[in-house]
Amino acid sequence: MCGIVGYIGTSNAMEILLKGLEKLEYRGYDSAGLALQTETGVHVVKEKGRIADLRNAVDSSIETKMGIGHTRWATHGVPDKKNSHPHQSASGRFTLVHNGVIENYVQLQRKYLSHVQMTSDTDTEVIVQLIEKFVLEGMNTEEAFRHTLTLLHGSYAIAMLDENERETIFVAKNKSPLLVGVGEDCNVVASDAMAMLQVTDQFIELHDEEVVIVTREAVEIKTLEGTTIERAPYTAMLDMSDIEKGTYPHYMLKEIDEQPSVIRNIVSAYTNAAGELSIDEAIVNAFKEADRLYIIAAGTSLHAGLIGQQYMEKVAGIPTEVHISSEFGYNMPLLSKKPLFLFITQSGETADSRQVLVKIKALGYPTITMTNVPGSTLSREADHTLMLHAGPEIAVASTKAYTAQVAVLAITADVVAKAFGRSVAFDLKQELSIAANAIQTLVDSKEEMETIARDFLATSRNAFFIGRNMDYYVSLEGALKLKEISYIQAEGFAGGELKHGTIALIEEGTPVITLVTQKQVSLNIRGNVKEVVARGANPCILSMEGMEEEDDRFVLPKVHELLTPLVSVLPLQLISYYAALHRGCDVDKPRNLAKSVTVE
Ligand code: F6R
Repeated sequence: MCGIVGYIGTSNAMEILLKGLEKLEYRGYDSAGLALQTETGVHVVKEKGRIADLRNAVDSSIETKMGIGHTRWATHGVPDKKNSHPHQSASGRFTLVHNGVIENYVQLQRKYLSHVQMTSDTDTEVIVQLIEKFVLEGMNTEEAFRHTLTLLHGSYAIAMLDENERETIFVAKNKSPLLVGVGEDCNVVASDAMAMLQVTDQFIELHDEEVVIVTREAVEIKTLEGTTIERAPYTAMLDMSDIEKGTYPHYMLKEIDEQPSVIRNIVSAYTNAAGELSIDEAIVNAFKEADRLYIIAAGTSLHAGLIGQQYMEKVAGIPTEVHISSEFGYNMPLLSKKPLFLFITQSGETADSRQVLVKIKALGYPTITMTNVPGSTLSREADHTLMLHAGPEIAVASTKAYTAQVAVLAITADVVAKAFGRSVAFDLKQELSIAANAIQTLVDSKEEMETIARDFLATSRNAFFIGRNMDYYVSLEGALKLKEISYIQAEGFAGGELKHGTIALIEEGTPVITLVTQKQVSLNIRGNVKEVVARGANPCILSMEGMEEEDDRFVLPKVHELLTPLVSVLPLQLISYYAALHRGCDVDKPRNLAKSVTVE
């Protein structure tokens, strides 16, 4: 949700910043801008649209060794040139990029800046105007920078240039992700290490309410009060090939294809020296001490959480509730006596989930974050972390992270069950290996999925996904995938619920994509299909081997009944992908969305 880069060194800053922004485009892509320090002053260029538009707009002959850049996902003010970053102070001396939301910007503007003519509708402009005001009143830049930050309520990752201090980038962070990178002959700033891997793999994590004075030679971290903090860099364990599309037309397709190896990597990462599945002992103890698990998540991660609830209850025997993170903060249920909280978040940055984590920590309850991003905010702030090991997920629509979440949830339930002395009637390691092979078969069935997408979704206005039990949760995920990338109105329903209202929407030709993988309800869901067909629906049944019938459109390879969500989601991901392609949609960057949602 907005991406920031900064560079100061001896190379061509413009190209490094543009390449960095290209890597951060998943964080927002409605407008972008650069501020480049040149011999004659700071040169600002902004464009509505993608980084490619910014690249076209910028004068490539500009010589610069220092600058900052931003790619935006609009929160305050429509996505246009005026509201895109960088923003400048009234005199033009200070130039700033920001990721986050300043909640009290209106109050700050009224209190301190009534004399200033604002040039944008953003909350960000207030920051840069305040800094100039305090400098005009006698503070030096660093003092004004730190003082301004103490007045802000909300989240920020900031990089700023001062026309009068041409050798420094002023950086700050609170609740929004930001890293400083240390290079051979340069130092850099980035919302995500992958943006600056091109120049270094040495990064320093920043904590909330820290400022950093970045020059070519040094990186000085300070508190808002000005006390210096020492922190050593870590090596980012990212490979350039993890973050490149390679020969794939889209990241989403690459990430769908990676799912068999994601499962295998997870099994290997969670296997101990004795060859058994295992998780951190401290996490097992946290489960032992709890009387109820609360899973908190949003979007696709929430759908994985619903499946996780089944694992926790059926395999480990732990009463479990699943909650939408954006609702939980102000609508908290009565908690059990010894609750344990599990935050499922691919990015580890989702603000909706983080606000719950903050409240739960304040109540003193134990917390676990399940995430794909080491060092992410929720990972740092929870008591324990369960890593997803899925590799960077770049497409906005989540695919391999969902698969990883389901697999790690299954492993957690299995390990905890055994720690409780419960017998688990199947060998999960072996079943996950069977599931990985089944997924491989499905990723190799792309042509059939493309045909299904063309036959059912190429021109349709809407689509329904139905299923029962586990299939219901996967239907929710299938519908989310389709709507977010193809813009087809799609909904997932529990098959039995249709007759309680939704069936009124069925018209001649309405596609009803149906999952039949749960043996004990297979007759019931087939009955629901008959009900919609009788009203004109166009059914597309995806059934599991052993449960198939003659007119089923596709038969999924058989896997253990608890692991069907790993397999049944595959065709839904691929169908959504091809439906979006047929409709000419931008698969990796769907409209109005961003990968990491750092606003509530
Ligand atoms: C959908 C999708 C989103 C995310 C949601 C939570 O494809 O990716 O629904 O699942 O924004 O994000 P994380 O998991 O990063 O907390």
